[in-house]
Amino acid sequence: MSDIVVVGGGIIGLSIAWRLVERGADVTVLDGGDDGAWHVAAGMLAPGGESEHEDQRLIRLFERSAELWPGFAAELGVDVGYDDTGTLGLALTADDVAERSRLWTAQQLPLLRPSELRELEPALSPRVRLGALSRAERQVDPRKVVAALRNRLGSRIEASRVTGLSEVDARTVVVAAGCGTAALTGLPVRPVKGQVLRLRGEPGLLRHVLDAAVDGRDVYLVPRADGEVVVGATQEERTDRLITAGGVHDLLRAALDLVPALAEHELTETTVGHRPGTPDNAPLLGRLDERVIVAAGHFRNGVLLAPVTAELIAGLVLDGAADPMLGDFSPRRF
Ligand code: GLY
Repeated sequence: MSDIVVVGGGIIGLSIAWRLVERGADVTVLDGGDDGAWHVAAGMLAPGGESEHEDQRLIRLFERSAELWPGFAAELGVDVGYDDTGTLGLALTADDVAERSRLWTAQQLPLLRPSELRELEPALSPRVRLGALSRAERQVDPRKVVAALRNRLGSRIEASRVTGLSEVDARTVVVAAGCGTAALTGLPVRPVKGQVLRLRGEPGLLRHVLDAAVDGRDVYLVPRADGEVVVGATQEERTDRLITAGGVHDLLRAALDLVPALAEHELTETTVGHRPGTPDNAPLLGRLDERVIVAAGHFRNGVLLAPVTAELIAGLVLDGAADPMLGDFSPRRF
């Protein structure tokens, strides 16, 4: 067995392992074989848009990771769909405008009227009342990122379903097992269900990520260069994996209200996953005991937070000293 074992072959575990290997460490990743939340995730890198709360410690973590993403994507050395065109925040009804305007004002984004919005995004419905463009909110394709990380790590990844940490023979164990972290450590990580759709049509219909309030419902549309449009997501405090008529209906209705031409796209995938939530929905990052380090509970921001998590946890494992930033996210804070 290796000196260091990472339990969890999702985007967080693989990113940590990659950073450790780059620093010369002897690392094995134990991958339980299930597709993690990354497989469902759209890959929005949204340091502002996903932080509806004003938790400054979390916003600092988001911003640091967003800054790391361009270098992280470039170092992977293959196309991972990193795109910095930006995100258009949108509001359909007067109530949606009231709700979203607070966020845009806090982010000091200039407000855009319908004609300005349609100059940026010609396929938008004329019913959209107000919006704002954030150049800082970007996207990446999580499936391509995981494929690139797997390729980098190669035979260091072993298929193995860990049921208890005592069975892991290593000097240091990093638990990055998403929702599975609860059963392995007893930490309060809960599954928060999300249903996500994938549509496909002619490339170029949309240029920006769209992050919208539509009749009180939050929806995002993430267009890929190849014509795929990811539509997400429900947020349900449920553990089941059902793709429901109501979930699909709500997502499609909101997507078509925003961009009517999507009605002609093919519906290619309906997926469901579970975000790893915590009592304060901030991640658990740090030492649990002398042997075990945790990196889990990234809730809605696992893709965004992968680079900073990898950097901080690799530093903790190899240097022994915790970056001050980790102080806010101790896994023992509850
Ligand atoms: N980050 C988007 C989501 O969790 O749905």
